Amino acid sequence: MRRDLKFYKITENLNEGASVKKMWEGRFSEASSALLEEFNASIGFDRALWQEDIAGSKAHARMLGACGILKADESEKIVAGLDAVFEEIKSGKFEFKTADEDIHMAVEKRLSELIGSDLGGRLHTARSRNDQVALDFRLYVLKSGSAIAEKIRELVEALRDIASEHTGTLMPGYTHLQHAQPVSLAYHLLAYAFMFRRDYERFASSRERNNLCPLGSAALAGTPHPINRGLVARELGFAGVTPNAMDSVSDRDFALEILFNVSVLMTHASRLCEELILWSSQEFGFITISDAYSTGSSIMPQKKNPDVAELIRGKTGRVNGNLVALLTVMKGLPLAYNKDMQEDKEGVFDSVATALASLEILKQMLKTAKFNEQNMLAMTRRGHLTATDLADFLVREKNVPFRRAHFITGKAVAYAENLGLDLSELNAQQLASVDESLGGDAVKFLDLNASKEARKSQGGTANESVMAQIEILNEWLKG
Ligand code: ARG
Repeated sequence: MRRDLKFYKITENLNEGASVKKMWEGRFSEASSALLEEFNASIGFDRALWQEDIAGSKAHARMLGACGILKADESEKIVAGLDAVFEEIKSGKFEFKTADEDIHMAVEKRLSELIGSDLGGRLHTARSRNDQVALDFRLYVLKSGSAIAEKIRELVEALRDIASEHTGTLMPGYTHLQHAQPVSLAYHLLAYAFMFRRDYERFASSRERNNLCPLGSAALAGTPHPINRGLVARELGFAGVTPNAMDSVSDRDFALEILFNVSVLMTHASRLCEELILWSSQEFGFITISDAYSTGSSIMPQKKNPDVAELIRGKTGRVNGNLVALLTVMKGLPLAYNKDMQEDKEGVFDSVATALASLEILKQMLKTAKFNEQNMLAMTRRGHLTATDLADFLVREKNVPFRRAHFITGKAVAYAENLGLDLSELNAQQLASVDESLGGDAVKFLDLNASKEARKSQGGTANESVMAQIEILNEWLKG
């Protein structure tokens, strides 16, 4: 994981932090060790949650005012103070200190400096950092999930556009990376478009499931203060509130889900990139990736490398690691909050940033790539792609049992190989010489384009089926 060292070394002098007052100092008689401060702090990375933290605190303060837990003017002053902290952070004036431990305490401490601790100290009424972090992180995950989903939509659109231009571009379809049957490039690209559509839907369904506000759960058991959780939830745009406080502060399913969703998404992107890498090789020559998205070699002047696709493939390993890391953190935790859960954030931040960057550059690389139709077409004439068509012809038109049809077609393939030809290159006479059942119309079934066009079944590669698939995407993209 790429870590900004600056984030980890906010306090240059390790002793500097140890003298700072702690929120919990009432119970403690000794100051924190500087080592503990450095080890315990999450502000180096959870500062990324500053906007969510302030939005949550404002909603909480307003609710405390509305419920009479704070006086109206107290609530207003706290909200104004939080706005001032927001401006400080936004403008870069805010000083993040390791001694403040995390973003929640840093914001609250600054608030008290600005509006006085008598008032600032009232904000945390009926709240704990446990429900606060659950809220902040959930808001972040919901926001990031939507941003990723939007980028997926753009990628699907780009694939749809390229596919629309290549409904007539013939290429070999593969199984085991061996030539199998002719398909169109459009059809092959649409397979990816539908994978990415599923990814989009996965993010959307996670959003629906997790769009509940955990604030008001307090430490683990709720609060005796007469709060109104629905008010906070509404102000923050949630669909409702989480039903059980203990679950609310212990639940990181939303984080696991976004990690899983990113892993599956990146797995799809990685498979596409693997093909782009293969296709851009001399051996395939199916695609020319634009110079703008290729790299050169420091020693070999002729080289043009598909680094972008390789990096996306490589980064998929890292995001999978992030998923396994958090699953492993969570698996042994008793209820409710445990500090282990502070380890939930960095992997999520990393996976989100990786997904957003990968989706954007993948889209641009695809849009600017050139598909080499002639090379694809030439490769359809290798590997006897229409053998299945010939066997199907024997079954359908000559009432030959499929096993026998398979055998006869195999003989035709061997015959072509002996002549150094592809099956699709045999003429009617040559074909008929293999077996008497291969006379007449049989030769028509060796045609590559006819083979593609014969696959009109729903979801097939024939033009008419491909157009129907494009239409499904058109409808979806409109929605
Ligand atoms: N920095 C903590 C985290 O990220 C915030 C919650 C701390 N709660 C606590 N009871 N220590 O998980």
